Amino acid sequence: MAPSKNGSIVIVGAGVFGLSTALELKQRGYNDITVLDRYTPPAVDGSSVDISRIIRIDYADPVYCKMAREAYQGWTTEYKQQYFESGFALLSETPRNDWIEKSKATVLANGGTVEVLKDATQLLQSYPNIQAKLSGMNGYLNRIGGWADAAGSIQKLASRCSVEGISIISGPRGTVVSLRKEGSRVVGVNLLSGGSLLASQVIVSTGAWTNRLLDVAHAASSSGQPVGFIQLTEEEARSLDNTPVMINMSSGVFVFPPSPGSNILKLARHGYGYANEVTVISDGTTRTISSPKFESSNAQTGYLPEDADRDLRAGLRQFFPKFADRPWMNRRLCWYTDTPKGDFIIDHHPTLQGLFVATGGAGHGFKFLPILGKYIADCFEDKAPQELREKWRLAPSEGDSAGYSMKGDGSRAGPPLRELTRVEKAKL
Ligand SMILES: Cc1cc2nc3c(=O)[nH]c(=O)nc-3n(C[C@H](O)[C@H](O)[C@H](O)COP(=O)(O)OP(=O)(O)OC[C@H]3O[C@@H](n4cnc5c(N)ncnc54)[C@H](O)[C@@H]3O)c2cc1C
Ligand SMILES: *[C@@H]1O[C@H](CO)[C@@H](O)[C@H](O)[C@H]1NC(C)=O
Repeated sequence: MAPSKNGSIVIVGAGVFGLSTALELKQRGYNDITVLDRYTPPAVDGSSVDISRIIRIDYADPVYCKMAREAYQGWTTEYKQQYFESGFALLSETPRNDWIEKSKATVLANGGTVEVLKDATQLLQSYPNIQAKLSGMNGYLNRIGGWADAAGSIQKLASRCSVEGISIISGPRGTVVSLRKEGSRVVGVNLLSGGSLLASQVIVSTGAWTNRLLDVAHAASSSGQPVGFIQLTEEEARSLDNTPVMINMSSGVFVFPPSPGSNILKLARHGYGYANEVTVISDGTTRTISSPKFESSNAQTGYLPEDADRDLRAGLRQFFPKFADRPWMNRRLCWYTDTPKGDFIIDHHPTLQGLFVATGGAGHGFKFLPILGKYIADCFEDKAPQELREKWRLAPSEGDSAGYSMKGDGSRAGPPLRELTRVEKAKL
């Protein structure tokens, strides 16, 4: 049964999943929508923030490749002020990297074009300012693609929601401590400020925090991924003008050109990450899960585990040797919501009525911002093709946790997932 358009909808989480859903549902005629978040969007320690996210159509999986091409239309029109088309280069130390080969084939099969780099130094013909040590590497370049200002895009999306008449509440009155249930029906949410907000439909889009509210440990787990920022001078930034977004598929490290205006250089690792094991109590049961902190901002301390810092620094040396010893201006762990195969979770809850789940970005959800809400709303209204319903299904839990290691779609590199130690956790 399709949810009623006059019923109240509460969406928990104002990242790209929650906000894109809110806007699309409002445009489809749902007229009572409230979005709640711990912090005002762009939430400081959410996954949909900071200066940049890669926008690419390069995927091994044809479903996401097709979706990314559709999203690209949005980036080059509606979101063109937030989008920078620098080109995107995928590089590997070993010949015929499996994921690069698959992605190349998928892009070509979908009508795209790539420039094969038998020797990555060929990149210098188009991008003479690249500093990276490219010899001995190979891969391909896609000129369609680049990066988007993540915080700026979320700000724009949140502001559009607000203009459309969607309420966005943050702080203690926007922080959900638990779902309010009557039997097997979710009837609203209980708030940190005390009291609750009733709703005929609750949509949980809480990203890396989802397992705190709802036991989905069999389907998703959170991993912290290292990110580092370097302040450049105007002149240094100019020396990197016209360079592409690059990913080293042998190490997982990826880099962006300096952000115009701020001249900040960013690099991160698309890896298996770190688990932060915490104990939570919900519905009277105690569970251990991996999740970022809930009560305070995860972006405050600027802490990175030593091995993460070392590997990111090695990436800095390989990509930007001139700035290899420049201190970080900022660092943090950014939280992925991993799933076993990197597929999103977009589904009605299998056993709780009145509850819909939209999460599982698995380190690649941001680029879909212009179109994600449409896909989520189609699932919400049971209109999506069967193939997508299956792909994004939330299977019932059989009570067994799948562990914290969820490897995604095969595109990651670097060391295996590691649990943070007690000493490290205290520094988060
Ligand atoms: C380092 C890093 C690099 C990435 N790079 C890319 C990239 O290059 N390209 C790309 O496409 N994708 C990338 N991704 C993935 C992409 O950013 C995520 O898939 C996407 O942002 C996830 O969005 P979300 O809405 O699920 O989560 P979030 O944006 O984190 O939103 C969830 C929100 O829920 C709120 N919340 C949680 N629990 C509660 C509660 N109980 N009460 C109230 N509010 C709550 C949180 O405060 C948060 O704001 C990257 C992610 C990271 C971490
Ligand atoms: C890519 O990663 C490999 C493996 O860590 C490393 O040897 C190589 O120098 C890196 N190259 C670049 C350009 O980052």
